[in-house]
Amino acid sequence: MAHEVVAHADDPGHSIAQNGAADVATDRPLEDDVTAQKRAAACAAVAEIEDGMLVGLGTGTTANFAIVALGERVAAGLKVTSVATSLAAARAAESASLEVLPFDTLARVDLAIDGADELDPQLRAIKGRGGAMLREKIVAAAATRMIVVIDARKLVTDLGTAPLPVEVLPFAARFVSDRIEHLGASVSLRMADDTLYRTDQDNIILDCRFGPIDDPQALASALSAIPGLLGHGLFLDEVDAAYVGRSDGVARLTRGAS
Ligand code: 5RP
Repeated sequence: MAHEVVAHADDPGHSIAQNGAADVATDRPLEDDVTAQKRAAACAAVAEIEDGMLVGLGTGTTANFAIVALGERVAAGLKVTSVATSLAAARAAESASLEVLPFDTLARVDLAIDGADELDPQLRAIKGRGGAMLREKIVAAAATRMIVVIDARKLVTDLGTAPLPVEVLPFAARFVSDRIEHLGASVSLRMADDTLYRTDQDNIILDCRFGPIDDPQALASALSAIPGLLGHGLFLDEVDAAYVGRSDGVARLTRGAS
């Protein structure tokens, strides 16, 4: 189980919209509050970055807030280098005036900061709604530590409510889809408007709906064994800590603490 420490909204460095308006019907926070939660979680993670680190930059709206916050720290004098988990993250880093190194010349990263689509109490995650999970997993595996930054909506009891994205060699599209359906999922080919969605590696993505996943490790092994399936969005061992933006502050969750 993860250990939780709540930094309240009035703590320095952890400011977040308080008393955010909620949807009366669902009691869920409205978009502005969610955005504030993402930003606060991202800023809290960026506060852990130290001089001299090589930082893995994640992909997605929450990870983007981390890139902007890191840019501000660098402008204020912090010395870091970075690698990007996607072309979009590289562009965001460039806009934030961060130095981005090509990852293909590197084997280790000090700290990766990335978003997630779901996070369970054991800090196992589903990632890939942004389509970057293949590179994200490589950078996470290379990282001494990985911190996930999310808003509170991403916390789940069981993984599997969100679709699980898998990256597939186009040549193997039908074959892989068929194999995944036999594992119990309904599978849809990701589209971008009227054309096939393509990853940064020019592959395709299948979004797989399993429903609650009883045994994520067994599913990860079964998926990894399918030829032509290049990567999946189950991050079962990579996440060391998470910052969760909530309407009352930011919670820090740590793997293995009780
Ligand atoms: C991209 C990802 C993203 O980190 C994930 O989809 C979360 O994105 P957001 O912060 O925009 O909700 O895995 O491949």
